[in-house]
Amino acid sequence: MHKKLIGLAAAILAAGALALSFVPGLATRRNEIVHKARSLGAHYNLTSEADVAFVRQVMTKDPATSRTIMWQSEYEENGSLVEYRVKGAKEGESVPAENTRFTDDHVTRFLHEAHLTNLKPNTDYEYRVGYGDKRSEWYPLRTWDSPVFTALIFPDSQSADYSGWDRLAKKAYADHPDAAFFVNMGDLVDNGEQHSQWDAWFSAVSPMIERIPAAPIMGNHETYNMEWKVRRPEAYLHLFSLPSGDAEHYKNEFYSFDAGDVHFVVLNTQDRELGPWEPSLTEDQIAWFRQDMATTRKKWKVVLMHKDPLQYSFATRPQPRAEGFSEEGRIWMPLFDEYHVDVVLSAHLHTFRDRGHLFGFERSETGPLYILTGIAGDVQYKGL
Ligand SMILES: [Fe+2]
Repeated sequence: MHKKLIGLAAAILAAGALALSFVPGLATRRNEIVHKARSLGAHYNLTSEADVAFVRQVMTKDPATSRTIMWQSEYEENGSLVEYRVKGAKEGESVPAENTRFTDDHVTRFLHEAHLTNLKPNTDYEYRVGYGDKRSEWYPLRTWDSPVFTALIFPDSQSADYSGWDRLAKKAYADHPDAAFFVNMGDLVDNGEQHSQWDAWFSAVSPMIERIPAAPIMGNHETYNMEWKVRRPEAYLHLFSLPSGDAEHYKNEFYSFDAGDVHFVVLNTQDRELGPWEPSLTEDQIAWFRQDMATTRKKWKVVLMHKDPLQYSFATRPQPRAEGFSEEGRIWMPLFDEYHVDVVLSAHLHTFRDRGHLFGFERSETGPLYILTGIAGDVQYKGL
């Protein structure tokens, strides 16, 4: 049953965590105060530190030769840049960053983004970010290009208390320091507008995200505002600059990338939530998917999607629901069959299931292998 997954030559690790203590916001508030004080000291030259936070590597279409570097500052630091060099070399390159002022949840942050291109595959680099005469520390950056690699796959990390997610992410990376990149399967945070939850998320994935690229997936919780109404997922769309492919209008919503012999496709399953703003999202994403799949020459195809293609009945909810396939499954599974997708990883239900291979909505020896990846935060759904 698992031949294809093993054949991918990728050690994909589904990580899980159970519900933890409920102390909303205390650690986050403390971190926020410390961070603000350090940024103020850095900005006004009271310390030698740089006004730089949440430095991160973000996935590109071809991470063997390129990388996107992003970070944030509390103040508008002009002349921001990334410096990088082959590890140990005296000379290196400098790339200017694009700067964006972003206000959300009544908080303004300055986002910085630079693109490193034409990197040599399988090379150890190091990079730092900064502005003026201020610089961050140097961080490692490796351009792996191997048919065998390790990727860390984290299911939904949305939490009421992010300390569990913090421990899980740090332990997973400490246990697998050779991981080439990590994926978060959507619902990164519980409320997509609340800035303190994003701060907690970024704190949790440090130092991993400074050292290996993140491949995030948008979930429905990224679309919730502070009143728990649906909005465009502004924070998610600003915090990760992802490959745009041929669908610039939907930048940062869905994308694809290559790793070794594997072509990964990241879908946006928030068609219902985004309907008022993007009424043709479903058709446009399908057209993009068809083109993307038709042009890849990679041996293996893996789809990463937040909402699950299968549907369970809820034992604990008053409105019964039919078991079978979800709306997303009915739309996408025939396309996965048509384009010979090897593996489909999903999330959203906060539990783990290995469904084996399905083809034509039936159990099959062929067809994609469907895995529901589990839970990484502290929100559990009983009765599944
Ligand atoms: Fe979800």
